[in-house]
Amino acid sequence: MLDHSSELVILKIVTMYVNGLQNVSVDIPEAVAVGSTVTLTCLYDLEKTELYAVKWYKGKAEFYRYVPKEQPPISVFGEFADDIDLTRSDRHRVTLTNVMHNLGGKYRCEVTNDYPDFHTLIKYGYMHVVNLPQGIPEVIVEKQRYAIGETVKANCTTPPSNPTANVTWSVNGLLLNSTNFKTLKLDNDNRSRTHAELEFEISQDSFRNGRLQITCHAKVFQLYVKDAIVLLDEERPRLASVLGTRDSPHTGGASMHAPKWLCVVAATNLLLSSFR
Ligand SMILES: *[C@@H]1O[C@H](CO)[C@@H](O)[C@H](O)[C@H]1NC(C)=O
Ligand SMILES: *[C@@H]1O[C@H](CO)[C@@H](O)[C@H](O)[C@H]1NC(C)=O
Ligand SMILES: *[C@@H]1O[C@H](CO)[C@@H](O)[C@H](O)[C@H]1NC(C)=O
Ligand SMILES: *[C@@H]1O[C@H](CO)[C@@H](O)[C@H](O)[C@H]1NC(C)=O
Ligand SMILES: *[C@@H]1O[C@H](CO)[C@@H](O)[C@H](O)[C@H]1NC(C)=O
Repeated sequence: MLDHSSELVILKIVTMYVNGLQNVSVDIPEAVAVGSTVTLTCLYDLEKTELYAVKWYKGKAEFYRYVPKEQPPISVFGEFADDIDLTRSDRHRVTLTNVMHNLGGKYRCEVTNDYPDFHTLIKYGYMHVVNLPQGIPEVIVEKQRYAIGETVKANCTTPPSNPTANVTWSVNGLLLNSTNFKTLKLDNDNRSRTHAELEFEISQDSFRNGRLQITCHAKVFQLYVKDAIVLLDEERPRLASVLGTRDSPHTGGASMHAPKWLCVVAATNLLLSSFR
């Protein structure tokens, strides 16, 4: 057990240790749209000490400084000094207006407390500046009706953006992994489209009440999150069920094993349905 005096000593050491600058954190959005206004935040705990300065850098260049002992406390520097909104900037935040691509990059906040510590702590953050896609992704499927064992072929193309949207697919709400599709980027000046080609083999349990739902998810960070949904219908070999083969679990498996007449039946159904 510690006696009372050693507890006091420990308490004093702990108090000295925590009485200083600590816990610096930045809040910088991962991505913002071109032309928007963004506030970067730098939080810190001075404990019982005074603030000497807060400095903001983009890359190596300082662009904002807040020194409470100076009049005025705020100084701005560099190529985007004019885009800093001084009325919405202070010891914890700096507000940038009309954000353009040159504002994308690595930011750092540097906080220094006053005499006698002059202790400095630094935190970093990265911000992307984005040209958002205008509109929704477009899905094109090869055809509307599919039988079990067939391969669905679909393409999803996103409107142009910078950076290019990420595309994923899901079938009946289950996300597919990238072995089922490939994506290409189609260039278009500074913006580009993502073209994602899906190939998905239909199995026994793909259809729910004769329906299959395919969704293309397009995303540019958290700023643009859009889905395009397509519903496909089951091509039922209806005559086949009369002949009893529908009950066999492998009827629709690999098509090369399917009897020829089954394919004919399927093709007939297709023809019939196109005349409906
Ligand atoms: C550090 O700051 C964060 C956010 O302001 C706060 O949640 C946390 O409790 C702080 N930690 C300490 C040790 O002060
Ligand atoms: C998907 O795109 C590829 C390549 O651009 C094309 O060859 C194919 O026909 C398209 N498929 C559909 C279903 O439109
Ligand atoms: C992707 O899906 C296929 C079949 O759908 C599966 O065999 C494969 O293990 C999956 N890969 C990953 C990385 O999840
Ligand atoms: C493409 O980007 C460059 C630099 O980022 C810019 O100077 C140019 O104007 C842009 N072109 C278009 C068509 O937006
Ligand atoms: C696309 O996805 C990758 C991997 O998840 C991620 O690192 C990247 O930031 C995403 N890009 C966009 C534009 O959302």
